Amino acid sequence: MKGVLLAGGTGSRLYPLTRITNKHLLPIYDRPMIQWSIEALVNAGITEMMLVTGGTHAGEFLRLLGNGHEFGIDRLSYGYQERPGGIAEALGLAERFADGEPVLVMLADNVVERSIRPMVEAFLAEPRGGRILLTPVSEPSHLRHLGVPELDAGGRVVRIIEKPEEPPSSFGVTGIYCYDAGVFDVIKRLVPSGRGELEITDVNNHYVAQGTMGYDILEGFWGDAGESIDAYYAVNDFVRTYGANKA
Ligand code: DAU
Repeated sequence: MKGVLLAGGTGSRLYPLTRITNKHLLPIYDRPMIQWSIEALVNAGITEMMLVTGGTHAGEFLRLLGNGHEFGIDRLSYGYQERPGGIAEALGLAERFADGEPVLVMLADNVVERSIRPMVEAFLAEPRGGRILLTPVSEPSHLRHLGVPELDAGGRVVRIIEKPEEPPSSFGVTGIYCYDAGVFDVIKRLVPSGRGELEITDVNNHYVAQGTMGYDILEGFWGDAGESIDAYYAVNDFVRTYGANKA
């Protein structure tokens, strides 16, 4: 399984900090944000990965990460997204890199307390369709900023709603996804959403409709450091106190 780290976008919710750098290069405790997601993938057994970024600071990732060996990566590839056309568009740039293998995708502003290896192992036991990682979220005001699954009485995902006004459950969809290699054909058939982006939630709903979407529920802390300036500091405080990517 190969890894894809998505680190493009505009980071507009963290303006003005992100006018002068890429969001994923901002510090989370003692290192640039991107290093936490790299560590999460490496700890899950992924040693071949592609980093997709865009904008005017792409060169800084090369300066920080080089060939990736120092971070436990065997082969590090880079992709460049010409404009922030959405998470699914950014993932589409990894098609040739994936070369027919399944992929573990992580949004590089997501930080987890515990290992994501159990999800990867569950997917690889039957590597077909997709698999998402859910996190319990109690506040509706927080859920309104996330993808939220609607679950039926048997606990199956019926659909996922992106940033719902009325959250249909108290789980958020984290930015950590497993897909089989068919995902790139799914992306080619997507149409841009109202905000002009190719949405990862549309990809996920494709697998839900097909009946091939699995999920796990994450234990421990999860944070999206790009959600708001307060979320950025909440993630910083958590990582400084408790650490991240623990077994
Ligand atoms: O963090 C979890 C949430 O991430 C999910 O619950 C949502 O379902 C999912 O849509 C996403 O929502 P966000 O509003 O956080 O997405 P955002 O536009 O902030 O993009 C998240 C990451 O994806 C960001 O760190 C960089 C990458 N990205 C984003 C865009 C729009 C790209 O690489 N290219 C892009 O064009």
